[in-house]
Amino acid sequence: MAKKDIDWGNIGFGYIKTDKRYVSQYKDGEWDAGTLTEDDTVTFSECACVFQYAQTVFEGLKAYTTQDGRIVTFRPDMNAERMMDSAKRLEMPPFPKDRFIDAVRQTVKANEDWVPPYGSGATLYIRPFLFGTNPVIGVKPADEYQFRMFTTPVGPYFKGGAKPITVRISDYDRAAPNGTGDIKAGLNYAMSLYAIVDAHNAGFAENIYLDAATRTKIEETGGANILFIDGDGNLVTPKSNSILPSITRRSLMIVAEKYLGIKVSHREVTLKEVAEGSFKECGLCGTAAVISPVGCINDHGKEIRFASGMEKMGPTLQKLYDTLTGIQMGRIEAPEGWIYEI
Ligand code: PLP
Ligand code: COI
Repeated sequence: MAKKDIDWGNIGFGYIKTDKRYVSQYKDGEWDAGTLTEDDTVTFSECACVFQYAQTVFEGLKAYTTQDGRIVTFRPDMNAERMMDSAKRLEMPPFPKDRFIDAVRQTVKANEDWVPPYGSGATLYIRPFLFGTNPVIGVKPADEYQFRMFTTPVGPYFKGGAKPITVRISDYDRAAPNGTGDIKAGLNYAMSLYAIVDAHNAGFAENIYLDAATRTKIEETGGANILFIDGDGNLVTPKSNSILPSITRRSLMIVAEKYLGIKVSHREVTLKEVAEGSFKECGLCGTAAVISPVGCINDHGKEIRFASGMEKMGPTLQKLYDTLTGIQMGRIEAPEGWIYEI
């Protein structure tokens, strides 16, 4: 077997079908043994709960080739746990954590040739998902489910890679205060499609959503948490119970304090303080986004420009980026338990 012949440095964030995917079915109150399959299609009743009532949750993590040629994943236990939380919130049977980690191992191993080489700028994105499969017409949870996990090689999430982007403050809300914003449910992304198309048509890379209750506080974007660097060089990240608890953000908070001696503050952040210039750097963070620098936030025509500018990532975010990716690619020693070798 040999690595696929792909121009790794020039792939974007799109779907490329790989060889094998993992499937497990839930029926009569239990998960089956699970298997790898080459079949990339799924067929269910037209009335499956996922089609009618969007009973689906998902995850996203990556496999990396390290400097010394190993294939590793980053904190898959955290994805397993978050997916269990997501499942419970939508009345779905959680897929057990040890089985999730085993499925990651099997799926990545079976698609080894698709894991982009070290230094190529690409990675193998892993997409686990879980959905209700039997017919349901009254509003209630399904009784039968499928857990699947496929992989696809990906490049940068935002066009232009490391170039700072401009994002806008959205007029649409992402998540209600006691809603589903803190879980990774498909419904949170369905509602964002109109807003993202609208943002792209207006020339913006993404939407920043404000808190739905007061529309004064910064929450997150459609697919990433937000990082700010204040005037003293501290890392500030918005806190709210309607934000998805990003594994990248939680890891960066540890990296900042333990590796770089940067003070971290996880607190409510108002749009007003952002507009008043309290922060000199801004970035979006997530598995797909890694750290994507934001050069400008557009609030209904008013531009909030960060001192780091539109040419490159600010110096503090760059240090965070270098350290995180250094850990993921095996250049820097990882905290205990963060790296899972395939
Ligand atoms: N916020 C949202 C809405 C997301 O979809 C994602 C992507 O997973 C993130 C944040 C980042 O989370 P993570 O760092 O766990 O990938
Ligand atoms: C991820 O970062 O894994 C995500 O799920 C973001 C996604 C919207 C592509």
